[in-house]
Amino acid sequence: CILIVDFGSQVTQLIARRVREAGVYSEIAPFNAAAEAFERLKPRGIILSGGPASVAEMGSPRAPQHFFEAGIPILGICYGQQTMCAQLGGSVSPSSDNREFGRAFIEVTKECGLFNGLWKEGERHQVWMSHGDKVDALPAGFVPVAASEGAPFAVTADESRRFYGVQFHPEVVHTPDGAKLIANFARHVCGLAGDWTMAEFRAAKIAEIREQVGSGKVICGLSGGVDSAVAAVLIHEAIGDQLTCVFVDHGLMRMGEADQVVSLFREHYHIPLVHVNAETLFLSGLKGETDPEKKRKFIGKTFIDVFEEEARKIGGAEFLAQGTLYPDVIESVSFTGGPSVTIKSHHNVGGLPERMNMKLVEPLRELFKDEVRALGRELGLPEIFVGRHPFPGPGLAIRIPGEVTKERCDILRKADAIYLEEIRAAGLYDAIWQAFAVLLPVKTVGVMGDGRTYDSVCALRAVTSTDGMTADIYPFDASFLARVATRIVNEVQGINRVTYDYTSKPPGTIEWE
Ligand code: XMP
Repeated sequence: CILIVDFGSQVTQLIARRVREAGVYSEIAPFNAAAEAFERLKPRGIILSGGPASVAEMGSPRAPQHFFEAGIPILGICYGQQTMCAQLGGSVSPSSDNREFGRAFIEVTKECGLFNGLWKEGERHQVWMSHGDKVDALPAGFVPVAASEGAPFAVTADESRRFYGVQFHPEVVHTPDGAKLIANFARHVCGLAGDWTMAEFRAAKIAEIREQVGSGKVICGLSGGVDSAVAAVLIHEAIGDQLTCVFVDHGLMRMGEADQVVSLFREHYHIPLVHVNAETLFLSGLKGETDPEKKRKFIGKTFIDVFEEEARKIGGAEFLAQGTLYPDVIESVSFTGGPSVTIKSHHNVGGLPERMNMKLVEPLRELFKDEVRALGRELGLPEIFVGRHPFPGPGLAIRIPGEVTKERCDILRKADAIYLEEIRAAGLYDAIWQAFAVLLPVKTVGVMGDGRTYDSVCALRAVTSTDGMTADIYPFDASFLARVATRIVNEVQGINRVTYDYTSKPPGTIEWE
């Protein structure tokens, strides 16, 4: 496997993801626990991550020195390159001028193992730079193999020891060949086979969960979404009925979804499940409320109250399981840093563990959405669950601008189901990140048969995205939209007009509230 030494970069998990994509197992260890991890894992290669510190600063973090004498390949990224340089006798100084951030171009000046079959001498390639310090003198044995205007040592190599340093970030998508460079390191340089799979991730996580939980009791909140479902099934596989799931059904789910959750868990997996039907509680609290943030906050708080109450009834649970994914961990911490404002108060069970004084079990913390789906398939979750579009915690309440009532939820559920049915029938479901209907608090005049109608407007939304942070509209054929619009107006009483939302994110958000 490959050991990734973390110096605190916000994108260290992306390195792990790229290594996984190359079919190689990796583990991340913070720099101050790296020596132990090395003993335990006996890695065949090491990657030193980037980090916010400056090598020139007193007391800045270092890699354990014996890593450089272990006879295995090392790739230093950004801060990792600089500390490797400093630890092997080169020199690094803070650079006040010539700081490069963002897109840059480097020229390959010499071929090396890292570039194998990918980059050739004389070629120019786009990379993503993010660094302040600069390497002044290389350690003995190293030569520069690629340079940019501001960074003569953009890539350095000591081929005999198989040590490589890159001053840019190969792990981010803004370095188009970055994933291939990391795969080259893992497979070509380290000689690893590239046959690691999700099955092994599953087995490793199961062992980890058993070790963490022991004979303790775990409760897990199900949302109906893929993340919490995958987490629950995995944990159940690890510790069986020490796990109890709690499904707080706020009555704001899509058509048929609540029943699906209940039958999947009870009948298919035989996982102990408490189904709390709290529709009345949620709808009565939402009565008369039209402010999007107040709706969100009420739902978030009520969800926690109900969950807490159920947990108390179950009793004795020391652990709370959550389907937290890596993007949730870094959410709102942008790659370039900087303050962020609250656009929407996201509803999740984030506040629960402190309030309930519980320890967290978060087996999906390293994974990205598509990897969770792959793990879900590995665990045998039905495709309809695994491939499901993301659904927001506050549910349909934020797809009904204005007051939320049972009647409006029912109208929206029908329109949404027709839309999704047509999308599936057209074979488009998997090409779309999220598609849903929104019920507007606007009535318009229409004519059906010989009569006048005066009913609500429904908006359709469909976007493509990789992480929900930015999104593009999905460009349906006009004939497809016309078919959906006709069906909705004909089949759903209460809607007499349908529009399509053409706003990307930014400036729009995906949800309407
Ligand atoms: P926005 O509307 O902010 O949504 O562009 C981005 C992604 O997040 C989902 N979303 C939520 N997910 N709790 C969640 O778990 C929430 O409160 C929430 N609000 C929005 C949204 O569906 C989209 O995928």
